[in-house]
Amino acid sequence: MRYSDDIIEEVRTSNDIVDVISGYVKLQRKGSSYFGLCPFHNEKSPSFSVSPGKQMYYCFGCGAGGNVFTFLMEYENFTFPEAVKALADRAGIRLPEQDYSREAKEAADRKALLLQIQKEAAKYFYYQLRTAKGERALSYLKGRGLSDETIRHFGLGYSDKFSDDLYRYLKQKGYSDELLRESGLFNADEKHGMYDKFWNRVIFPIMDVNNRVIGFGGRVMGDAKPKYLNSPETKIFDKSRNLYGLNIARTSRKKNLIICEGYMDVISMHQAGFNNAVASLGTALTSQQAALMKRYTEEVLVIYDSDEAGTKAALRAIPILNAAGLTARVVDLKPHKDPDEFIQAEGTEAFQERLDHAENSFLFELRSMERQYDMQDPDGRTKFLHAAAAKLLELEDEVARGNYLTAVASRYGVESQVLRKLVANLALKGAGVREAPKPKSGVNRPKERQSGVEKAQQLMLTWVTSYPELLPQVSEYISPEDFTTPLYRQVADMIFEQYAEGQVNPARLLNHFTDSEEQRTVASLLHTRIPLETEEEKHAALWDVICNMKESSIAARTAALSPTDMQGLMELMQEKRKLEDMKRRRVL
Ligand code: UTP
Ligand code: MN
Repeated sequence: MRYSDDIIEEVRTSNDIVDVISGYVKLQRKGSSYFGLCPFHNEKSPSFSVSPGKQMYYCFGCGAGGNVFTFLMEYENFTFPEAVKALADRAGIRLPEQDYSREAKEAADRKALLLQIQKEAAKYFYYQLRTAKGERALSYLKGRGLSDETIRHFGLGYSDKFSDDLYRYLKQKGYSDELLRESGLFNADEKHGMYDKFWNRVIFPIMDVNNRVIGFGGRVMGDAKPKYLNSPETKIFDKSRNLYGLNIARTSRKKNLIICEGYMDVISMHQAGFNNAVASLGTALTSQQAALMKRYTEEVLVIYDSDEAGTKAALRAIPILNAAGLTARVVDLKPHKDPDEFIQAEGTEAFQERLDHAENSFLFELRSMERQYDMQDPDGRTKFLHAAAAKLLELEDEVARGNYLTAVASRYGVESQVLRKLVANLALKGAGVREAPKPKSGVNRPKERQSGVEKAQQLMLTWVTSYPELLPQVSEYISPEDFTTPLYRQVADMIFEQYAEGQVNPARLLNHFTDSEEQRTVASLLHTRIPLETEEEKHAALWDVICNMKESSIAARTAALSPTDMQGLMELMQEKRKLEDMKRRRVL
């Protein structure tokens, strides 16, 4: 589905960003901008700014930023088309139907119907819990310590003992068999036809961050197996991209999120006031879930069951969280099995204390590593310390590495100097050298760490959007072809074009990036501030960026050059000479 550029721009300019954001965040005018508490991270003093002139927002605390579409995408977790639609509605603009491709429209309609079905089912289950038939289920939930308020808050329900009443209920509402089959709520076989998947179970509706029901979990009320049944994945239910309870937790304004294993754990914690708890949906934590959490927090407390499986799951989760840029700490629940049982047994304050004492994930990993060695044996200890040194070497941040080194040395009673030497020796042997990034292949290439080349290009884009008046000077040396990263190239093309047409307009430029991830990347690009005061400082810094970027661009193009392309080679050599010359002169 693709709207025309004109209509997108019309929607954007018809929705003043200050008006829209005021609907979510309390803003106060300060000079030419508005300020408020950032809705994307937890803070006490306002660093979230909205510029009516630029029609952009930016948070000086967490770096979130973009135009009015980006805001809705971030806040409501909308896709770009959904954000356009919402803002068009808000401004009373009718979006042209013909801009939908037929298939896209059908798919969107189908998704909407599937969402409707989940909602109807949730209401049905909710209602059943409150009828005479649901008495046992209700007393089961109460027996587990849940209050009426909690049961309502999480929309809990009950699927009764008949095996086809939900099916009949939804049929009578007019949904087709084909659609109902796709909803994941029913099983079908030759003998029985379609029948309800959940029966005689307590029902936990699963919601996405926008409070839309996307699936269900159902628990038996005793010891039968399987304990929980869950909806299968459907067009609207992607288990790897959702977290149970995040719709509530994301608004908790706590400084971190808590990740646990189960539905009941989330509910118990919320009831006890820990309303920042979420659970992965019966599967191992995924990188998409980590990225989702990163939108709302910087730190995650991992609180998995205190058995061996739970420890293993925590060890698997830590690198995934770290890779998403989250710091992680691990909560110890012993001697209790899970958060629910802990809270039932020891209460809220004791639980809070465990959260406060959550162990740094690096030290947690180290402690479990320790168990693989015989620490009483000198050889075992030596081997362990070598392994610990290798682990320290994995830390990229030197300050962090130094701090951990000190902590590890004191914990295991070795001198810091000795450990430092061990790490240095390993580094010299090349143990810490990471594999060079593999050439691009396939679509789902994991995000590599940003290279120096990318950084230089990104910085250049920041420069020319912050100071468009520099473009004539810059373009003497840099052209869009020097941006070798495809996304940056695209942005550069647009900026140069906008400039040629008379005005650089970052908010408008953002309209062109309809994929959420691209939007985010580009928005952050256009928002990095260059904290330089004097003209001289600016000059020197810009000069460095130009040289850096030119250098890497020449290197990249040389590497890509076909060996028979003499013309190309000559040109590149000439550019290289020009660069050397520039570097010598250090003037624009
Ligand atoms: P647990 O077995 O730890 O259960 O499973 P629990 O959350 O403590 O449940 P209660 O307290 O006995 O009611 C953790 C999570 O794993 C998934 C569910 O999401 C559950 O919440 N699970 C577990 C299943 O999907 N199926 C199962 O049969 C068991
Ligand atoms: Mn439990």
